[in-house]
Amino acid sequence: GHGKFFVGGNWKCNGSTDMIKQLVGELNSADVPKDENVEIIVAPTFVHLEQVKHSIQAPYQIAAQNCWHEPNGAYTGEVGPEMLKDLDVHWVILGHSERRHVIGESDGHIGDKIKQALSTGLKVIACIGETEAQRDASEAFSVVDRQMAAISKVVESSQWDQVVIAYEPVWAIGTGKVATPEIAQEIHHHVREWVEGEVSKDVAKGLRIVYGGSVSDKNAGELAERPDIDGFLVGGASLKAGPFAAICNSH
Ligand code: G3H
Repeated sequence: GHGKFFVGGNWKCNGSTDMIKQLVGELNSADVPKDENVEIIVAPTFVHLEQVKHSIQAPYQIAAQNCWHEPNGAYTGEVGPEMLKDLDVHWVILGHSERRHVIGESDGHIGDKIKQALSTGLKVIACIGETEAQRDASEAFSVVDRQMAAISKVVESSQWDQVVIAYEPVWAIGTGKVATPEIAQEIHHHVREWVEGEVSKDVAKGLRIVYGGSVSDKNAGELAERPDIDGFLVGGASLKAGPFAAICNSH
C-alpha cells in the first residue's frame, strides 16, 4: 500500500435531512477501523454539509463534491473553496466523471479548480477515467495520461501529499459492472508509473490511487489486495452504512 488506506463515500445528489440523520446515526455506530492506517471520508451535497458536520463523529471526515475555481465573487450558483474551508470541510472531490460528462467540465477547468482548492488548503480527490468507447478504442491509457497531465500541471511538488487520485472508469460507475482487479490494477500501476516519470519517484511512491465504479462489500476485498489499489471512492454502496463499513474494513 501507499500511505493510509482511503475510503470515500460519494453521496452524489442524494439525501434529505431525515435520510441523512438516519445514515449518520448508523455510520456513527458502525464498526469501522479507527486506527491511524485508514482514512474515511463522506461527501454529502453542499446543502447537507453543515448537518453532517454537526452530527458525524470521528473517524469520519467530510468532503464536498465540487467547488468553484475562484475563492468567491460574482458566480451565481457556485461555491468557493474558501466557504468550504470556513465550514471546516477539509476535502473536495474534483473532476468526477459526472461533472466531466454530464455537466461538461474540461480538463483545463478541472485543473483550475484543483489549483484553487489546493492553494486554499483543501485536500483534493481528483478523478480520472475513460469511457467505454475510449476503452474499446484502446485509448484507456492515453485518456488517463491526458487527465493526469492536466492535474499534475497545477499541483506543486509540495502539494502532492494533499491529493488522492481516484480512477473511476465511466463504464463501471453506477452500472454494477465493476472493473476486474486485473483491469483496475493495470491502470493504477500505469498511473503510478506515469507519475514516477513525469513528477518524481517519491511522489509516485506516496501517492494514493483509489478505485471507484460499482464497488461493493462483495468485491472490495479482492480489489484491495492489489498492490496499486490504495482504497476506494464509493457511490451507491456508501448510502448504506453496513456495506460502506464493510468496504472500510476490506483492506
Ligand atoms: O464517486 C463514486 C463513483 O462514481 C462510483 O459510483 O459506486 O455508484 O458506481 P458507484
